[in-house]
Amino acid sequence: MNLLTIETTCDETAAAVVTDRLEVLSSVVASQDELHERFSGVVPEIASRAHVERILPVIDEALRKAGVTLADLDAVAVANTPGLAGSLLVGLTAAKTLCVACNLPLLAVNHLQAHIYACRLASGRDIFPCVGLIVSGGHSNIYRCEGPTDFTPLGGTIDDAAGEAFDKVASLLGLPYPGGPSIERAARAGNPQRHRFPRPLLDDRKRLDFSFSGLKTAVRYMVAGPGKSRCREPSGTGSASARRTYSISDIAASFQEAVIDCLVGKAELALERTGYRTLCVGGGVAANGRLRQRLEVSAAQHGYELHIPPPTLCTDNAVMGAIAVVRLIAGLTEPLDLDVFPGLVRSAKP
Ligand code: KG4
Ligand code: ZN
Repeated sequence: MNLLTIETTCDETAAAVVTDRLEVLSSVVASQDELHERFSGVVPEIASRAHVERILPVIDEALRKAGVTLADLDAVAVANTPGLAGSLLVGLTAAKTLCVACNLPLLAVNHLQAHIYACRLASGRDIFPCVGLIVSGGHSNIYRCEGPTDFTPLGGTIDDAAGEAFDKVASLLGLPYPGGPSIERAARAGNPQRHRFPRPLLDDRKRLDFSFSGLKTAVRYMVAGPGKSRCREPSGTGSASARRTYSISDIAASFQEAVIDCLVGKAELALERTGYRTLCVGGGVAANGRLRQRLEVSAAQHGYELHIPPPTLCTDNAVMGAIAVVRLIAGLTEPLDLDVFPGLVRSAKP
């Protein structure tokens, strides 16, 4: 069977054709980075309008690359939660329309669960049961994953997501959007021990939660000075560089290390608590080379199996929507009044 999968939860318009044997026949991702760059973050209304323009060409290209037509499809799967309301609606409307026009079953995809399922697709073998760590622009959550339709939340961020913290810190350091890759690049030339930024909640072994907004504020105070609202000039020439009192690379490296310490520490705690021996990591931040390296060291030390997909399957894509194959086989199709469920998934403060 051939599934068309559609992903428009945030600022990537993506479509893929996958088979029920999890073969990937095509994958197309249209990024909107250039539209959001000058705002240093995703502007929801700009994102949804861009999805409207791109969704049909992206679907067309996915079908063409896969060498199939609409008549060859057996189902349409679409991410309907969580995400930006307007963005989700574009993908869902396109999916429903195709289902009506071609008399196909509609399948729902949970975007966060799909990020974990990317590990199944990349490894080519079963990953369950596992601890799932999702680190994206909107979410940083930990799940007990017993199967592709059985995810139990164990914890997550109580404020900013890890990717959001990368994006905001990059912005205050004057680095380009998206912030994660910019910080990673700047950090390569920096000393991660230069600044001792806080590791919020890391020592609290009762909780599998994260908090990154205070860490972001600590970076801001380092750059601007405590209580100051305007940042000192971070880089440049002439008088600006004369005023510079810190190294962007050192701050980037020290910040990145603090985030990674929290992510690795809580992943280890979740494995300990569940007794599971497999960790699956997904989401845009999982593309970070230093995080991948630190997790590999942790897996070797603690003797667990680590799955992180290649970077193109970490950031948003439609291939991971292949998680819907399980629902198709189980007959878990959706009615055509399926709605979007945008809300951020947050851990409750104790
Ligand atoms: O999963 P994703 O593509 O979209 C969401 O579902 O949010 O994640 C995007 C996030 C952005 O915050 C971006 O800065 C971050 O992932 N990111 C990275 C890297 N590549 C993307 N963060 C750290 N290091 C990277 N190399
Ligand atoms: Zn995502």
